[in-house]
Amino acid sequence: MAMQEKTETNVVLLIVFALIVVLWGGLAQIVPLFFQHSTTEPVAGLEPYTPLQLSGRDIYIREGCVGCHSQMVRPFRAETERYGHYSVAGEFIYDRPFLWGSKRTGPDLHRVGGRYSDDWHRVHLTNPRDVVPESIMPSYPWLAETPLDSSDIQDKMRTLVKLGHPYTDEQINNASAELEGKTELDAVVAYLQSLGTHVKVRR
Ligand code: HEC
Repeated sequence: MAMQEKTETNVVLLIVFALIVVLWGGLAQIVPLFFQHSTTEPVAGLEPYTPLQLSGRDIYIREGCVGCHSQMVRPFRAETERYGHYSVAGEFIYDRPFLWGSKRTGPDLHRVGGRYSDDWHRVHLTNPRDVVPESIMPSYPWLAETPLDSSDIQDKMRTLVKLGHPYTDEQINNASAELEGKTELDAVVAYLQSLGTHVKVRR
């Protein structure tokens, strides 16, 4: 019996060979990524989030913004015309967890940093209809009224240091003081204004 026929009629052999092919295919795709530095090195000028931006990011997660907003500009003309330069891997080195998202009820936010003024964001987050009359985005009026909880910022930063974020001891020690007197709204706006601002080429 020819080899081909033997494998196709013997279910155990078929499973074994199919597994080998699939595993090899998987390895061929995954292993090179470990050695491809463009996916593990920050783009030039990328800094880890400041304590205020980091806190804003956590509120962004808490409020579920990622459920309606992606942070991933894909390399298609329709996207780069609208949002700016497509996203590159080295911009997400300090994003833990990634907030790429998969749902766009609202626009992609990866290049929203610097597009609007801080005041625009304050009004928009408190009641989107005040600046975009047709908006279906929910209002987040409590952000402006809630003082920022800074009790765990130093622990968060220390944890990130263990994962490779280059915070200095000085930055960590000063973190709580930096957040004093800030509201949750201040933090979210600071975070939004930082998004995607490291790749300078636009439109
Ligand atoms: C139910 C879906 C939904 C949720 C949840 C949501 N948004 Fe939106 N967002 C939208 C829609 C729709 C728009 C477009 C209309 C507008 O500008 O208000 C938008 C627009 C925006 C814009 C302006 C983007 C641009 O380029 O014009 C920002 C910034 C934004 N959202 C931030 C947030 C933040 C921060 C949160 C979480 C606190 C959030 N959104 C939660 C639906 C949502």
